[in-house]
Amino acid sequence: MTSLTLRSIFLLFPTISLCKDLIVGPSVVEITKGFNDVFPYENFNRNVTVPMWDTHLLNGKDKSASQETLDTIANASFIVYDVEFYKLLGISGPLEKKEVEDIFTFPDPPSYAERQIHDGSVYVPEENILFVAELFSPKEGYSMEAIPYIWKMDITDLVSPNISKVYPNPPLTIANGAYHFNGSVYWAQEGNMTTPSSIVRMDPRTLETEVVKNNFYGHRFNSMNDIVISEGGAVYFTDGYYGWDNFNDTLFPELANGIYRWDMQTGNIKMVAGAVEGAFFNPNGLAFNHDQSKLFISNRGNSSSDPDGARTIYINDVTADGLINRNMFSYSDTGFPDGIKTDKDGRVYGAVVGSVDVYNPHGTLLGRIKVADGDVAVNMAWAGDWLYIFGRNKIYRVKLATTGR
Ligand SMILES: *[C@@H]1O[C@H](CO)[C@@H](O)[C@H](O)[C@H]1NC(C)=O
Ligand SMILES: *[C@@H]1O[C@H](CO)[C@@H](O)[C@H](O)[C@H]1NC(C)=O
Ligand SMILES: *[C@@H]1O[C@H](CO)[C@@H](O)[C@H](O)[C@H]1NC(C)=O
Ligand SMILES: *[C@@H]1O[C@H](CO)[C@@H](O)[C@H](O)[C@H]1NC(C)=O
Ligand SMILES: *[C@@H]1O[C@H](CO)[C@@H](O)[C@H](O)[C@H]1NC(C)=O
Ligand SMILES: *[C@@H]1O[C@H](CO)[C@@H](O)[C@H](O)[C@H]1NC(C)=O
Ligand SMILES: *[C@@H]1O[C@H](CO)[C@@H](O)[C@H](O)[C@H]1NC(C)=O
Repeated sequence: MTSLTLRSIFLLFPTISLCKDLIVGPSVVEITKGFNDVFPYENFNRNVTVPMWDTHLLNGKDKSASQETLDTIANASFIVYDVEFYKLLGISGPLEKKEVEDIFTFPDPPSYAERQIHDGSVYVPEENILFVAELFSPKEGYSMEAIPYIWKMDITDLVSPNISKVYPNPPLTIANGAYHFNGSVYWAQEGNMTTPSSIVRMDPRTLETEVVKNNFYGHRFNSMNDIVISEGGAVYFTDGYYGWDNFNDTLFPELANGIYRWDMQTGNIKMVAGAVEGAFFNPNGLAFNHDQSKLFISNRGNSSSDPDGARTIYINDVTADGLINRNMFSYSDTGFPDGIKTDKDGRVYGAVVGSVDVYNPHGTLLGRIKVADGDVAVNMAWAGDWLYIFGRNKIYRVKLATTGR
């Protein structure tokens, strides 16, 4: 009788298994307080370039059993730290299945590339298309080459989106960030040795481009990274050492890294936060909250493998002409939040190694949306209630119970 009962329970919930301190469903692993408070190994270590499920077990007592726990987490699509996360996923709990769709694999990078990156992801609602730029971090001894194309994804047919290379004219020069404003796409491009870093406006239909900002009172920017634009036309963009340090394709940086505010109406430009006041060694991603009263800014620091690397998201209040009240919002345990996005309910999403990490409005980690094993989430774009995730090698999407704005 007992075995029959157990068997029928097993048939009812065929996929539930009870791993040590985890609640395991078909695609979700819920991390319990016990596991989170005391990592269940005698000895462990991990450098900050790899995700938590790749933590090394050092002389653990029961290594194989523990490794199975980490493998269980590695195999999940979602990691839940707070039950609030289920609301966002639109499921009642760990037993319900939920999918992260893997919708596209980019072709292999050129031989000079150490890795490929997809950044500057943007949705154009009028056309129901997304764009994303491709970049190649070069191997030692190489520099990044100019890329004449970007990727366009038409999602009119949700089941099989049309994903193809398109060619802006004149071409962009190492585009890295993008924002949709007033019917146009505004790119923040890193520039190269011959083309200064700049903001470029692109018509999403004709792909015609025009440089709209390329200097700070006659100075080149170091290499612009990301861009957002307020409803009133105030452009905030980050400028960092990435072109010099990562891509080896720009002139030596002559300015302090920072976040600039450029008013498109008046032409006024000023630095509003930056390395000069300590927090932002190498600022990267930008995202407004839903009503544009807050600006989130991520900072990588010198490098993402450096223990001193910042891997931080800061929150700032947006004023009529700048930023005030900078506070730390979150600190990532892995890599650094490259692209950041928000939703209409105040959550913040950071693209990191192995996942998109989702924080509540107060900076508490609710959970992680995993990308493929070995991939790195670089940036995201909302299209309605779909969150599109752009990795180094792939495009993913997940339907969530919220929208971008
Ligand atoms: C961090 O750990 C990963 C995985 O073991 C390894 O490949 C990488 O080289 C390490 N990085 C550093 C900076 O030690
Ligand atoms: C993880 O997934 C792999 C590949 O599907 C499978 O072989 C392995 O048994 C899984 N491990 C755990 C602990 O779920
Ligand atoms: C930077 O690129 C040039 C070629 O453009 C190359 O000669 C040089 O070795 C590269 N530097 C590094 C540090 O890779
Ligand atoms: C896919 O998009 C490209 C670029 O916009 C276009 O040239 C092509 O005709 C489209 N293919 C289909 C099947 O719609
Ligand atoms: C810089 O980028 C432009 C294209 O935007 C390209 O024509 C030019 O060759 C590049 N310069 C170098 C030095 O790579
Ligand atoms: C929006 O674009 C139109 C032209 O399409 C232009 O006349 C208008 O000035 C733009 N508005 C802003 C705030 O840039
Ligand atoms: C970043 O740190 C590395 C290693 O300490 C160092 O070689 C490099 O010069 C630093 N870069 C900057 C821009 O400070």
